[in-house]
Amino acid sequence: MPVIAVAGGTGGVGKTIVERLVSEPKHQVIVLSRQVRQDRFERAKYLQIAKKNVQGSIQGLSSSRFQRVQIDYNDIPSMARVLEDVHVDTIVSAIGLVSDETSQAQLNLIEAAEKSRTTKRFIPSEFSFIQTEELLHIDPSIKYWLDAANRLKSSSLQFTRVVPGFFMDYWGMPNIQSNLQPYSFGINIAKHSAAIPGNGDDVICTTYSYDMANYLVKLLDLDEWPEFSVIVGDEVTYNQILKMAEEFTGTKFEVTYDSVDQVNAGNVTIPPNPPGTKYSEEEMREVTALVSRLTVNGVFELPKENRLNELFPDIHPITMKELLERSWKK
Ligand SMILES: NC(=O)c1ccc[n+]([C@@H]2O[C@H](COP(=O)([O-])OP(=O)(O)OC[C@H]3O[C@@H](n4cnc5c(N)ncnc54)[C@H](OP(=O)(O)O)[C@@H]3O)[C@@H](O)[C@H]2O)c1
Repeated sequence: MPVIAVAGGTGGVGKTIVERLVSEPKHQVIVLSRQVRQDRFERAKYLQIAKKNVQGSIQGLSSSRFQRVQIDYNDIPSMARVLEDVHVDTIVSAIGLVSDETSQAQLNLIEAAEKSRTTKRFIPSEFSFIQTEELLHIDPSIKYWLDAANRLKSSSLQFTRVVPGFFMDYWGMPNIQSNLQPYSFGINIAKHSAAIPGNGDDVICTTYSYDMANYLVKLLDLDEWPEFSVIVGDEVTYNQILKMAEEFTGTKFEVTYDSVDQVNAGNVTIPPNPPGTKYSEEEMREVTALVSRLTVNGVFELPKENRLNELFPDIHPITMKELLERSWKK
């Protein structure tokens, strides 16, 4: 049974990947975490998901199908030993790359994977748009993703960079299942309010996080991996999302458009955020300015060629219309 390790499997994207992996009887799943103590319900939740998907038979569903293993990202030799001890074949990194420290943690993990005799494949933490050097002037933090990709290119590991565009979850939460931190991007549907970057006609490729995880699980069966594994649940614009949201809620929204010049100058309108958001006013301004800049510069319009959608036609990702209808229709 191949052993798949999910680094950062305790976070928003990581948990979703782990949920999907444990529902496949053929994988043994290890969550790599800095903390040894697991959430009280973590194990029970995953065993329940696994049971449900094995359709009645819980044979082989021993506690060894899922475990959490503690690692120290600053100690490369000990990480390599851990990977070998538990026979990790593939690492999926879902570490939140937000700082030099988190980026270094992932680079160290790549090095440990290279040293481990059992580890052959690595999916770095990306789960976003196609990050290239040309985009560094728009988003300097892209260097974290590029550093990991360059390190993998010079390694003996097989790798692929998973690109699902924007997660669709943000426009369905809290009415749709999601492990992501709630945040309002452009439109806050619950509050019937929108602050849209540009003229609202930029194309956004978007995928529900659980659909991304479904494709990722399928990727694990392939012998060859492309550099970019692009997944597109749907292609929409903010104006289209707004129109559908107004229809499903039966309400006219209050809408502001920030011009491209305003967006490029960082002078953005922050839409109302969901209650309990963990971000400070300053952080919300930064995140909104960055994502708005990326949107008006067209980065969420992903290439049409070689999408995983064509490779796995049996997966039917949810469309934005379906997600909005399910989440907001009165
Ligand atoms: N396209 C989109 O719309 C979208 C949206 C959200 C995220 N993403 C991407 O998905 C990836 C994961 O994001 P996320 O929001 O799920 O991350 P997250 O929840 O913020 O963090 C994931 C995990 O990273 C680990 N971590 C945190 N600090 C660390 C450190 N200093 N060293 C090592 N590990 C550390 C933690 O695991 P432990 O504490 O267990 O070690 C944490 O649970 C990122 O690459 C992000 O850019 C994309």
